[in-house]
Amino acid sequence: MNSGSSANLLSLAALRIKKGVGEIIVPPLNWSSNIFSVIHNGFKPKFVDINLTTLGLDEEKIEKAITKKTKAIFITHILGLNALSPKIIKLVKKYKIELIEDCCESHGAKFKNKKIGTFGSQSNFSFYYAHHMSTIEGGIICTSNFETYEILRMLRSHGMVREASSNKIKKNYLKKYRDLNRDFIFSYPSYNVRSTELNANLGISQLKRLKKNNLIRSKNFSYFLKNLNKDKFFVNFDIHGSVNYGLIILLNKSYANHKIRARLEKLLKKNNIEFRRGMSGGGNQLRQPYMKNIMPNFNKNNFENIEFVHKYGYYIGNYPNLKKSKILKICKIINDI
Ligand SMILES: Cc1ncc(COP(=O)(O)O)c(C=O)c1O
Repeated sequence: MNSGSSANLLSLAALRIKKGVGEIIVPPLNWSSNIFSVIHNGFKPKFVDINLTTLGLDEEKIEKAITKKTKAIFITHILGLNALSPKIIKLVKKYKIELIEDCCESHGAKFKNKKIGTFGSQSNFSFYYAHHMSTIEGGIICTSNFETYEILRMLRSHGMVREASSNKIKKNYLKKYRDLNRDFIFSYPSYNVRSTELNANLGISQLKRLKKNNLIRSKNFSYFLKNLNKDKFFVNFDIHGSVNYGLIILLNKSYANHKIRARLEKLLKKNNIEFRRGMSGGGNQLRQPYMKNIMPNFNKNNFENIEFVHKYGYYIGNYPNLKKSKILKICKIINDI
């Protein structure tokens, strides 16, 4: 695909073709295109709060949100962390619903020693240049389901049947639509979200460095957490199998307030340390203008953790040649808050 957002859009389009519309469980700490893909495909997003250790869906709250209309749990792995848990896998099996994984921010992360993106029926990756590897712009959907794969091939390219890899599928269409030119049979209302050979070439060369760079990134993040003041910052992230491209900063609940936050931001700015507040997608998607027609009000009591991350969560860049001395310097600066 030409982006991770296109991967989001098409994975939900393929789900709708196979399963029809219904509800999709999503976390509010998310990139906007994940929620857009749900809405644009006629699904209803059902928001469930996050937990602070994985920054993914709170597994204890998911089951309550599952109804007869639920078609999928669409998880997002945030900032290199793994958002999967045994309970989520169990729920997917128990209710016979799909699991879709957004791995755009966590290329190479692992759950139970297996790469994330291999658990869902579809998983989305982005190669935007801020991520672990880049094709400048680009994305991929992974699936091991052959029918989904063929639908996605067509959806990606104007819905054209000639884009399917299966001769059987092509023959079936030809038989059914004898009056049509075989080169111009359009299967579904679709898109053109193809990538190019140039982008693919960049990606192939970057793949070679992904593992090595991820190892360094993981070490950087552990070192960062180790040197943060535990009274001021939350450091109990589940970093097992994580590959963070961002150094995550989250104030402690007992310490956080808007005055402290202002001081932290002032310190970061003064020292030319670029940061993003709200973490992925700027924080709580439920607060965004595009949600006003869909969910004008939300009960803040049900979204305590995302509200906290929205107000007091940050990330700053973590890259393979970031020196240990610099990480230590950053810690010293923000510990002085
Ligand atoms: C979790 C997540 N999903 C999807 C996307 C969209 O990817 P892209 O920028 O390639 O469209 C992003 C951001 O870039 C993201 O962080």
